[in-house]
Formats: sequence, C-alpha cells, structure tokens
Amino acid sequence: MEQELSKDNLAGRKDVIIINRRSFFGALLAIGSAGMGAILAVPVLRYVLYPIYAKASGIAWADVGDLSEFAEISAPVRKTITFAQLDGWRQVESAQSVYVNRTSGGEFEVLSAICPHLGCSVSWQKNADDFLCPCHGSIFSPDGKLVKGPAPRGMDPLPHRVKNGKLQVRFEFFREDVPNREVVS
Ligand code: FES
Repeated sequence: MEQELSKDNLAGRKDVIIINRRSFFGALLAIGSAGMGAILAVPVLRYVLYPIYAKASGIAWADVGDLSEFAEISAPVRKTITFAQLDGWRQVESAQSVYVNRTSGGEFEVLSAICPHLGCSVSWQKNADDFLCPCHGSIFSPDGKLVKGPAPRGMDPLPHRVKNGKLQVRFEFFREDVPNREVVS
C-alpha cells in the first residue's frame, strides 16, 4: 500500500513538472509575441497618428507677381496667390489673398488679408486710406497696424522675397483672436 502511494505521488510530481514546463514555454511564447507586436506596432502607430501630431506645414513659396507690377504702387494692392501645402500626407492646393505695399523706405511689405479677429477677408478702402473688416468693423492702417478693434492685433505680415524678377511670398496661417501673433501652419 505504502509502495502504491509512492508511485501515485511520483506520477503526480511528473504531472506538476510537465504542467510547469508547459506554463513556462507558454509564458515565454506570450512574452515573445507581445514584444514582437510592440516592435511592429511602433512604426504602424507613428504612420497612422502622423497627421494628428504633424501640423499642416510645408507651405511652398508662391509667386505674387512680377516686380514691374509693384514698381509704382503707393497704396496696398490686393493679389490672390496659389500655393501647395502639405497637410498630413496630402498635398493640397490653396488660394489666399494678400496685400502688397511698400514701406516709406521702399521695402516690400506683404500682409495676409485674413482678419486676425475671426478670419474674415479684410478690404482696402481707397477713399478712407485704411483697411476695413466687413464682419465686425475692425480698421487697420495702410501698413496693417490696428486702428480699431475688436481685432486684438494688427494684420499679419508674411515672409516674402524677390527671386528671378518676381515677388514671392510664403503664406502662413495665424491663430485668430489672440493679441500675440502665433503661426499655426
Ligand atoms: S472678423 Fe474681422 S473684425 Fe471680426
């Protein structure tokens, strides 16, 4: 009887050993699979989430016009520009209006026509010699400075350059309705 019990105990121990080995290899396999999954998931997640964390950017330089067009200007001239913009993975074509003017020193100045209050399109008023936003009545001087709100700041100046006989601008979008200029794309 004592001998039979010993055999039973021995058989039970084998089972325990076998189960433990299986558990060990199972756990090892699970850890390995999870590790591989995590390694593979990183580039996939980066690819999927890229448009969320990457702000729209990559706005290309756009032609505003030949320099000869602006040789004689004495007041802001409205121009429509088209440019390519990278938005996440997509390249989109956009059109925006800008105003070209010259400073008293003869330097070019290019202003966005987007009102810094809530984004309406600002108009140049030749007779009043100022810019007026038709939406809420903000007024700006010819060089874009704020004359009357509710806009919290002046019109937004844009980076520009002269290249191959053309005036070019790189359009930027700014946060609306904040006093400090902040480029959002
Ligand atoms: S959007 Fe221009 S004043 Fe409000």
